[in-house]
Amino acid sequence: VIFESSNKASNVVAHEIAALIRKKQTQGLPCVLGLATGSSPIKVYEELVRMHKEEGLSFSNVVTFNLDEYYPMDKNNIQSYYYFMHVHLFNHVDILSENIHIPNGKIPVDELYQFCIDYEMKIKSYGGLDFQLLGIGRTGHIGFNEPGSHLNSATRSITLDYITRADAASSFLSLDNVPRKAITMGIGTIKSAKRIVLLAWGNNKAQIIKQAIEGKITSNIPATYLQEHDNTTFVLDYEASTEL
Ligand code: GLP
Repeated sequence: VIFESSNKASNVVAHEIAALIRKKQTQGLPCVLGLATGSSPIKVYEELVRMHKEEGLSFSNVVTFNLDEYYPMDKNNIQSYYYFMHVHLFNHVDILSENIHIPNGKIPVDELYQFCIDYEMKIKSYGGLDFQLLGIGRTGHIGFNEPGSHLNSATRSITLDYITRADAASSFLSLDNVPRKAITMGIGTIKSAKRIVLLAWGNNKAQIIKQAIEGKITSNIPATYLQEHDNTTFVLDYEASTEL
């Protein structure tokens, strides 16, 4: 779906999420959201916060699982995804802290493997993700599933691509400061979500969006795996759609 602006598009996505939260509330069920970081979802979170403050949208039944976190990364570091999510969403809504799940960037190496297994199990214990919000990296990654990621991959540690690290360099002041690894949900984890919405804004995403939507399905561009998911929408602004 192509919108004239990312503002309009973000509002539509936020309203879809709000409708799902409310529906689950009336059913007395938790609403399990997979959440993304990066610049793309910021306006979606802004609109959700506005709806909480002005329209009484409650997050009391919302359970969240974030896609990824740098590794190693202290949660108090302003570059952490933990910090990002609290600044942009969690600090402003009535979500219960025990319902927030973000990969632990400080988990000791020898506990990392078990941590990833437990993260998967926790998602499954809620019956899976009701909704997964995604951005896309210029390597075609979703979450931090870089090229080469397997279709059935689960939550795990991954080595970041050079392009991904270069794109993150400005927020870390220099490339050398960008962690070389991350913990990410897998492609399999993402694809098991009942509904997926991928956001992409701006010219610099146009080329990878063309490949993700029109290219053949390949592990070289992990976002192409979404072509096989039967309830995924790519939400684009005009600039991101220009190569289609
Ligand atoms: C990072 C995140 C991804 C995100 C991507 C794009 O790599 N791990 O989840 O989709 O950046 O970020 P942006 O939305 O800022 O373009």
